[in-house]
Amino acid sequence: MEFGSVKHFLRGKTILVTGATGFLGKIFVEKILRVQPDVKKLYLLLRASNSCSATERMRNEIIGKDLFKVLRDKLGDDFDSFISEKVMAVAGDVSSENLGIRDVYLRKAMLEEIDIVLHSAASTKFDESLRVWGG
Ligand SMILES: NC(=O)c1ccc[n+]([C@@H]2O[C@H](COP(=O)([O-])OP(=O)(O)OC[C@H]3O[C@@H](n4cnc5c(N)ncnc54)[C@H](OP(=O)(O)O)[C@@H]3O)[C@@H](O)[C@H]2O)c1
Repeated sequence: MEFGSVKHFLRGKTILVTGATGFLGKIFVEKILRVQPDVKKLYLLLRASNSCSATERMRNEIIGKDLFKVLRDKLGDDFDSFISEKVMAVAGDVSSENLGIRDVYLRKAMLEEIDIVLHSAASTKFDESLRVWGG
């Protein structure tokens, strides 16, 4: 598939991204926002105790990174409002029921809105305990 058609496909779509603080997830988020700014919305599921700390993680560990410099320079003063409009951090955990999203109304809205799931959350530790793997 040519990238042009992927870009076209992503236009107006709402995407749930897990693992967005990770190596691959972060690159995906930046690339989508840079090449297809007409994406509707990105929900980033991040491990955090509540939505405020999820937003803080998003700001510190994703959007605030040098990786976003090209987009930040391109958008200038509009960068923050663009991010606020397009990206929402959600506190959760993929190993928990309902992805650990406690807010029922948010869960319902996400179920209705999300078109695509980019699941990049994983334990990448080679010495992870078997209990974490469910063994
Ligand atoms: N990197 C590569 O070159 C490469 C190549 C081929 C395939 N892959 C695969 O791609 C996937 C991602 O790799 P990566 O290199 O981006 O890994 P990574 O840098 O270790 O990132 C893992 C991500 O998963 C999140 N995560 C882990 N457990 C979670 C949970 N229970 N709930 C929610 N989020 C959770 C982490 O969040 P926290 O910040 O909260 O820890 C982090 O954002 C893995 O499956 C890996 O095997 C990677």
